[in-house]
Amino acid sequence: MLKVGVLISGRGSNLLSLIEACATSGFPAQIACVISNKADAAGLGHARAAQIPAHVISHRDYPDRAAFESALDSKLDEHGVQLVCLAGFMRILTSWFVDRWRDRLVNIHPSLLPAFPGLHTHEAVLAYGAKLTGCTVHFVRAEMDHGPIILQAAVPVLDGDTPDTLAARVLQAEHLAYPAALRFIAEGRVNVYEEKTFVTGAAAGDKALFNPS
Ligand code: GAR
Repeated sequence: MLKVGVLISGRGSNLLSLIEACATSGFPAQIACVISNKADAAGLGHARAAQIPAHVISHRDYPDRAAFESALDSKLDEHGVQLVCLAGFMRILTSWFVDRWRDRLVNIHPSLLPAFPGLHTHEAVLAYGAKLTGCTVHFVRAEMDHGPIILQAAVPVLDGDTPDTLAARVLQAEHLAYPAALRFIAEGRVNVYEEKTFVTGAAAGDKALFNPS
């Protein structure tokens, strides 16, 4: 069982999708702890309801990023975490933390990276007039929303979409994509070579909008 730590800042719907996946029989990962940098993050309730240790480590309680990240790192170590999943964690991590967890630190972003990194993603997609968007699960590198892509799912942009309707459609894909990527990693099937990932045994592209399917 791969021991996973999940970092959140808010609603925690992706956290919930990971909790539900880990609760299914035979799933090769378990969530060892959830950490939020915000005390009022709704996602903490999902962790507590599932009896997963939930901690608040507020960046405001530390003098600088180094001290904050060192506290995160110690808490993850305390729980024997082997893989960290960022799930709507809205703090930029320094290269110290990112390097320390290299290829053991994963993020989900609500666009098809490298298109539309950063905040206000769905507004940017609509303003640009893109016809397809989606979500990306990737290993984290120091540059924001950047790093070897593990899995992407494409989602159509429809006439009349607002940022909210598009976000809701993408979120449905996120809730499938994150558990699928976690499964690949926990099964030891994801390798990084020259900053690209290769997922052994995954059929690529034979199910339209998911790659690997
Ligand atoms: C998700 O859409 C996630 O992709 C996004 O924040 C939302 C969190 O929702 N993450 C980013 O934009 C990171 N750059 P959730 O709290 O319900 O999982």
